[in-house]
Order: sequence, then C-alpha cells, then structure tokens
Amino acid sequence: AGNRTFTMIKPGAVRKNYEGAILKMINDAGFKIRAMKLTRMSTTQAGAFYEVHKGKPFYDNLVKFMSSGPIVAAILEKENAIEDFRKLIGATNPENAAEGTVRKLFACSVTENAVHGADSDENATREADFFFSTFERFYDYE
Ligand code: CMP
Repeated sequence: AGNRTFTMIKPGAVRKNYEGAILKMINDAGFKIRAMKLTRMSTTQAGAFYEVHKGKPFYDNLVKFMSSGPIVAAILEKENAIEDFRKLIGATNPENAAEGTVRKLFACSVTENAVHGADSDENATREADFFFSTFERFYDYE
C-alpha cells in the first residue's frame, strides 16, 4: 500500500457536474479511492475544517463557499500520495496552474478552485478523520 491523502471536490465543481471527470483523472493518475462520500458541510463545520486560515482575508468567503452545496470527500491511496496529488491538481490559484492539471481544467478562481488536496500527512489524517469513520474506510482491498 502507498500512503494516503485527503481530497474534496468543491461545491462549484459538483454544481457543474465535473465530479465524474475529476474522479476519472484521479483514477487515471494511479490513485485508489479508499473512502468517498457526497456530503455537505455546515458553515460551522467548514469554519472548523479551515480553522488554520481563520483571520486571513479570504476566510469568510472560503467558509461561505465551501458550505454552499454538496462536496465529494475522499481518501486516496498511492505511493507519494500527498505530493503526487498536489501535482495532479496544480497551483491553488488556477491562473498559475499548469496545463492539464485539474485546477487548470475545472477551476474558475482561487476560492472556487475545483478541488482541495491535503498539504501534509498530518493534515491528511486530520481531514480524513473529519469526514470518515473507521467503517467508511477500505484500506485493505486490492
Ligand atoms: P484549499 O486547497 O481548499 O485550501 C485553502 C483554500 O483557501 C484554498 O484551497 C483556496 O480555495 C483558498 N485560498 C487560499 N489562498 C487564497 C487567497 N489568497 N485568496 C482567496 N482564497 C484563497
């Protein structure tokens, strides 16, 4: 087994029905989906999820946007998952995202940037624990 990362397909991308295309890119890049759900965060939950950004100028908008509709939350597994996933999705601001990346293809702004990807093992664990119980994770399948 490789290591793991946590991702969300954000409300804007789900509203535009991009989740299938984004999940295909994720599978084609060699990631295994080990947990997944369509869910929606309340503003309180989104505020807690993005607590590290509290006080930053974009925080309120981010919380409002992330609680504006359903998201797809998932745990992904692959060798070098965190770094490889960040490469697949591209820069946070889609204007700076490389050609062929998820954000280049599907994002419309730095807030509505199509997907989230965990930036460290520690955050991937914290973020996965935020959404998934033990029973919702399938780590031991081929
Ligand atoms: P995400 O990977 O979900 O992690 C934090 C989010 O904050 C990020 O994607 C962006 O959507 C948002 N964000 C980060 N920096 C900025 C910024 N400078 N302006 C607006 N939004 C930002």
